[in-house]
Amino acid sequence: MARRLIVVSNRGPLSYGRDPSGARVARRGGGGLATALRGLLRRDDVTWIASAMTDEDRAVAAEAGGASFAEEGRDGSSFRLRLLAHPPAAYAGFYDTVANGALWFLQHYLWGLASEPELGADFHAAWRDGYERVNETFADAVLAELDDDAAVCFHDYHLYLAPAFVRAARPGALLTHFVHIPWPDAEYWHALPEAYRSAVHRGLLANDVVGFHTERWRDNFVEACRELVGADVADDGTTVRFEDREVRAVAHPISIDVEEFEALRDDAAVLEEERAILARRPEYLVVRVDRTDPSKNIIRGFRAFELLLEEHPELRGRVVMLALLDPSRQTLRAYEDYLERASAEAQRVNERFAADGWQPVDLHVRDNFPQTVAAYKQFDVLLVNAIYDGMNLVAKEGAFVNTRDGLVVLSENAGAHAELAEWVVSANPFDLEDQAEGLYRALTMPAEERRRRSSAAAAYVREHDIDAWVDAQLDEIARLSGASRAV
Ligand code: F6P
Repeated sequence: MARRLIVVSNRGPLSYGRDPSGARVARRGGGGLATALRGLLRRDDVTWIASAMTDEDRAVAAEAGGASFAEEGRDGSSFRLRLLAHPPAAYAGFYDTVANGALWFLQHYLWGLASEPELGADFHAAWRDGYERVNETFADAVLAELDDDAAVCFHDYHLYLAPAFVRAARPGALLTHFVHIPWPDAEYWHALPEAYRSAVHRGLLANDVVGFHTERWRDNFVEACRELVGADVADDGTTVRFEDREVRAVAHPISIDVEEFEALRDDAAVLEEERAILARRPEYLVVRVDRTDPSKNIIRGFRAFELLLEEHPELRGRVVMLALLDPSRQTLRAYEDYLERASAEAQRVNERFAADGWQPVDLHVRDNFPQTVAAYKQFDVLLVNAIYDGMNLVAKEGAFVNTRDGLVVLSENAGAHAELAEWVVSANPFDLEDQAEGLYRALTMPAEERRRRSSAAAAYVREHDIDAWVDAQLDEIARLSGASRAV
């Protein structure tokens, strides 16, 4: 019999707000993870535990008395949702200071160690009173929902400590954790004090399975477990033995819901945005789609595009970079500054080259999903030059939706590169020349080769869609369920 799934992530599959008439509305939760996990809702008996992130979420949580309640996904699938309304100060320490302000930066190698991080008293308080407390609250909610038939699926870097709290209370529980961001090598983890880096690895090792998008991140994790907490690694290189338990480290690449994107191609709002793009379409259209996150390498992307225009004057007036940036984590100073600097960089490139009514960069800073899908359909080249990225679903969405034999110029440090390398134009995210040259190669590649590559990439994504990823998670759980486990 299939187990009930308790899915646990900071951001839930939907969040609540009010429409202009004052009526409560449920909106799809943002970000790749929430989007991808919606695939789970169609398949199983799911209870989802997430943080209340908006005021309306908190109101909903209060009305439910902190318990889970029945909800419906966009496609009509039903599930139960339990929203946790954390004390605001604890949540700020957890989300802003530790998860996004430190772990995110560490795991994407974003710290310049000559000046960052500076972990003062504020950070230690945020770890203790924010990250630990909120993880404990998540664990308490899991324990309240857990019964013999349930398996728990934790997600992401917000919740590294929660599995150890659950394991301590229920030694036989079936726990899995999926990490959607890169795992840096063991040495870089030394930027975090010993107590914290050890707690992160011990917390993850309280699970039965720990998943990553690529073997590269999985192998780094296994090695870090060996070096940082002295775990034993079996000859298979993926079974980790720690404190009398065995943990399997696995690599399963996440993907997109191809049916959803197929339907979106003809969605009325997408078609309207596509008409707007077509009305001003240049001869060559380069697109980028990103949250305004320093890991996405937006500034170097504009500089590489500038270099392309510098080195190929014949392209001036004929190519535009349409940059669709979704404002992200603006409560963090580093993110606010990054968005400001990225906007200034786009403006600088425009001021340098704009002529005769032509502007090289067409920058849009807002969340407009129909416009994103329209741009996916229309690009000649999609630039995905992330510094490091766990997967990067933009690369897969773009490759699947595009209608012009467009090519992806893809960072060799994005997880998606492990799967799509054969068909994309690879680029080093730090090398401006390499990125500019990649853009040029992709724009000028012979039509037949463009068609071959773009249709092969789309076929690959169709074949390896979100269902394959969901199946892989459920297979892991089914395999573990074989053994009798007292909860
Ligand atoms: O896995 C990374 C992730 O958690 C994804 O859900 C998404 O891409 C992004 O980060 C969302 O971040 P946030 O929930 O902070 O907006």
